[in-house]
Amino acid sequence: MSKVVAVAHPNIAFIKYWGNQDDALRLPSNGSISMNLDGLHSQTAVEFSAGLAGDELQLDGGVATPEQTQRVSAFLDLVREMSGVTSAARVESQNNFPSGAGIASSSSAFAALALAASAAAGLELDEAALSRLARRGSGSASRSVPGGYAEWRSGDDAGSFAHSIAAAEHWELADCVAIISEEHKATGSTAGHALAGTSPLQAARLAGAPGRLDACRAAIERRDFATLAEVAELDCHLMHAVMMTSQPGLHYWLPASLEVMAAVRGWRAAGMAAFYTLDAGPNVHVLCPESAAAEVAAGLAELPGVLRVLRAAPGGPARLLSDP
Ligand code: PMV
Repeated sequence: MSKVVAVAHPNIAFIKYWGNQDDALRLPSNGSISMNLDGLHSQTAVEFSAGLAGDELQLDGGVATPEQTQRVSAFLDLVREMSGVTSAARVESQNNFPSGAGIASSSSAFAALALAASAAAGLELDEAALSRLARRGSGSASRSVPGGYAEWRSGDDAGSFAHSIAAAEHWELADCVAIISEEHKATGSTAGHALAGTSPLQAARLAGAPGRLDACRAAIERRDFATLAEVAELDCHLMHAVMMTSQPGLHYWLPASLEVMAAVRGWRAAGMAAFYTLDAGPNVHVLCPESAAAEVAAGLAELPGVLRVLRAAPGGPARLLSDP
């Protein structure tokens, strides 16, 4: 069987996914909305081969840990079940951005893997089926399958996939990512989701999620930056409040994260269109209209503790680089 290569962008969520109704199926407790990040990507090659004793995984040119290989292998089992392919696979994946520090590398990694592995196994999945498959590797990966701005709905196994609510070209936003640490996070999101229900605040977060989803979707449709800023910062704070108050508590912010957040609030009070959001890590994503991105990125680079700034525009869907 031939080698297939796929590329996918990570995404940044404006309305966050945190906590599952079903951990094994990765069925989320609430819907979420995100934007794909052009310029950042995972590129993944998959080849099923009868000569292999077991699945092999290379990450960024090095041999993966047994835990990483095991997670990919469990995902490949789903593809083998769907396709009837029985052989092991060789997987090589590369990111062009730091893994594990709040840029949701698992989103692009599992979206690219879902596409490359399903095509390498001879499956032709439509976008919804591909998003549903990617979801099983990492929930946020479901949102990296469709292009532009995507909404992933909660629901049962069949109904829980992401679709595009607006194409990348619909709204020229920029994500300026203030990199504060490139270290791997202490508690990954899979373990984190399982703790969400231990926070007394999770029920309140979930009760308000449908309203925030409606507000966020409408703000994207109308290109209403002020409303998007308000609802996305609120949603980020709610998720981190749940993380901090779960048992054990998860604290992803570093002092420099707070410095950046305070600076962005100050810039906004002074009239600049910018807001921030953070995933399960210390790096701060600062969203602004593309026209303000140079100024925002330069301002971020000067703040204490900011190592460097990545810039991304709205990105397209996961795509194949070669045909099976
Ligand atoms: O896809 P996971 O299991 O890595 O979860 C992602 C969780 C957050 O990045 C914190 C939020 C989100 O919606 O992307």
